[in-house]
Amino acid sequence: MNNKKLAIVGATGVVGQTILKVLEEKNLPIEEYVFFASKRSAGTTLKFMDYIYPVKELTENSFNEYNFDFAIFSAGASTAQKYAPLATTTNCIVIDNSSAFRMEQNIPLVVPEVNSNALNTNSKIIANPNCSTIQAVVALKPLHDNFKIKRIVYSTYQAVSGAGSKGIHDLENGIQNYINNSNYELEKFNYPIFNNCIPHIDTFLDNGYTKEEEKMINETHKILNDYSISITATTVRVPVFNCHCEAINIEFEKEFELNNVINLLKKSPGITVIDDINENKYAIPTIVSGSNNVYVSRIRRDFSVKNGLNLWVVADNIRKGAATNAVQILEALLNK
Ligand code: A2P
Repeated sequence: MNNKKLAIVGATGVVGQTILKVLEEKNLPIEEYVFFASKRSAGTTLKFMDYIYPVKELTENSFNEYNFDFAIFSAGASTAQKYAPLATTTNCIVIDNSSAFRMEQNIPLVVPEVNSNALNTNSKIIANPNCSTIQAVVALKPLHDNFKIKRIVYSTYQAVSGAGSKGIHDLENGIQNYINNSNYELEKFNYPIFNNCIPHIDTFLDNGYTKEEEKMINETHKILNDYSISITATTVRVPVFNCHCEAINIEFEKEFELNNVINLLKKSPGITVIDDINENKYAIPTIVSGSNNVYVSRIRRDFSVKNGLNLWVVADNIRKGAATNAVQILEALLNK
């Protein structure tokens, strides 16, 4: 029935805007949409499904006022920490894009193609994983089910859109500076991202890893529900506007035929394989941007270890890495 009410928190942000696009494309059975952002945006408007909607300031009363069935939060961890628990007291189910609740034991961390069974819970908060983890586990899940993964080495090449509008500004301003010598101040990164690669995403931990690297390790364990896999990661910001790329090195327990791996990936949900080195065909950000699927290329043996495999995995980090995945979780909840 078309009688559900949905709140979007952070509707004016980079991910929030893409959530609106994905909702337009999917046209889910939702009767009423309400869009929230911070005080800064209150009173502005946005266009959604041919109508103009006001952007409302999120307050402590917002959820009591509307009695929402669902809310998708994409406004950062501190906003989620403050407002998601308030939403749940009104029986609203929250799908949160931030890192606030991901590692809490009783909160499901869900990629629908991989672990939609985790939605069979009474939890009123569902966490959307980190963008770089989502695309990795979509590719890894069918391989893990068939050949049992022993070890993963992640090396990422992550787009500036993953750092929100300030990250995008740093790359745009860096390009302008290169062309016109115009002055600018960095808004997000510690160094200019234009013409650079920065091996530092999120904050550093005492053990020398970054939080982004730790997220990839911990979230992979939780989503695949297998804590026996050895995982390491190096995450790097690169001067690409949109789409994260990942070189993933895997060691399996079982032997595999390369053809079986390729066929398995081709028929698994949410995956597109582009892999024809004779025609120079492989996934790159400018091809993948705007798509909801995870693209897998350069599928080849790692000859340096027993049962080793290398993959190149590319996805639109704002779509499958955030907005699309959140809307797919909503869709799965609506279908329950
Ligand atoms: P606003 O546009 O009013 O600042 P991005 O990461 O792309 O910058 O987007 C962050 C999103 O989160 C924006 O929509 C932003 O709204 C929203 N946001 C930030 N702080 C709050 C808050 N305290 N309450 C509600 N929304 C917030």
